[in-house]
Amino acid sequence: IILGPGLQKNISKYIRTHNNLMTTGMNRESIIKDARRMLLGNLRTGKRECDSKEFFFVCPSNQDYPFQWFWDSCLHAIALIHIDVDMAKKELITLLSTAHPSGFIPHITFWESEKREEFLKHSLVAMDNLAYSSTIQPPLIAYAVERVFEATNDKRFLADALPILVGFYRWLRDFRDPDKDGLISIIQPEESGIDCSPKFDDKMGMSGTLDNKTFIRQLKKLYDAYAPLRGDERSLLDSNLFHFEDVLVNSIYVQGLRSLIRMLGDSPLVDEFVRDARKCTDALIGKCWDEEMETFFDLSGVEENPVKIVTVSCLMPLIIEDLPEDIVRKTVERYLLSPEHFWLKYPIPSVSVSEEKFFSGDPHGFIWRGPTWLNINWFLSRGLRSHGYHEIADRIASTSYKLVERAGFREYYNPHTGAGYGARDFGWSSIILDM
Ligand code: GLC
Repeated sequence: IILGPGLQKNISKYIRTHNNLMTTGMNRESIIKDARRMLLGNLRTGKRECDSKEFFFVCPSNQDYPFQWFWDSCLHAIALIHIDVDMAKKELITLLSTAHPSGFIPHITFWESEKREEFLKHSLVAMDNLAYSSTIQPPLIAYAVERVFEATNDKRFLADALPILVGFYRWLRDFRDPDKDGLISIIQPEESGIDCSPKFDDKMGMSGTLDNKTFIRQLKKLYDAYAPLRGDERSLLDSNLFHFEDVLVNSIYVQGLRSLIRMLGDSPLVDEFVRDARKCTDALIGKCWDEEMETFFDLSGVEENPVKIVTVSCLMPLIIEDLPEDIVRKTVERYLLSPEHFWLKYPIPSVSVSEEKFFSGDPHGFIWRGPTWLNINWFLSRGLRSHGYHEIADRIASTSYKLVERAGFREYYNPHTGAGYGARDFGWSSIILDM
């Protein structure tokens, strides 16, 4: 990679300012020890009361999130590879066991029903039954299965997983891409995994006080409007109440499809997913890339209005291996490495600092509006490596490490000060082990 003068300057300035981080040696053993303690502490095992089905998974947080969340579970499995591959496998076997005959996999499964009532007192979850949510989360599962298969070479595990994955990625194509442009759509903010991102404010009718209470109130309105339609994906999307072609979700979708393609090898099933991955990548570039702003924006509504707010979503296509080089370069130089957008002391903030709504402090539940999250740092540092930007990826890994070292495994962190916020002993922050 040849760095332009602007980029060279940014990196050199960064190294000067944060020299202490560069010279601090990482203590891999101690972080593995801490991660093991935390992940074992969050481990939930047993048999479900209603049907004696066995479960084995790491919950995001015993206090705040005591159930199995979809993309958290994928990240936990990848972190567990560095601790105990059998645990990593069991985590995904449990997640895969939640798939429906239709292919759908829910974003939350309430394995321990006795904890559900308390949780639902302060959280809103779309449900048409008591056991699981009726919504999705970013489709990271094929990538997680591929990583666990690579680590174990367990062919039985792969053979059991593949039909479920085929069903799930077909479900996404068949039920979540009504205009058949290759981009899948989400029906409510939590499906994006970055729930209260300011990019959803307009569509959610957020005005006046911007806080979690207002968000929940608006979300409740959406749920009420959806109530008669729940269970019918087509009507939910046709209602156009909240219909987002989300760049983060679609980038992870392409990443998952690519893993599925590799795992399917020479199976005759592979062609349909090669087509899906191509189509989605082309649509991200053809429809979401904004030539003038030189970044990617989500499309809102069946009208596909670009939502021009700069958040981490804009950077997420970096995880796509064959993203054209000039787009990669613009994304890195104009946005990621710019102190006016994402290059803060502890990158990568969830929203660009240039956005009026950027807020770096403790958001009290109104999440994804500024603080740094380690799952995003993991996605993007791996993406950067795949495009040859190893030095920047190393930098993100070392600042992420510093966050954990100083503040522990927190849910998210202040990008200026490194202070930790949200849940403590938060599962996916152990993904640092894979960075
Ligand atoms: C929050 C996050 C979501 C995550 C969940 C459990 O709702 O926004 O992405 O899956 O917590 O950790």
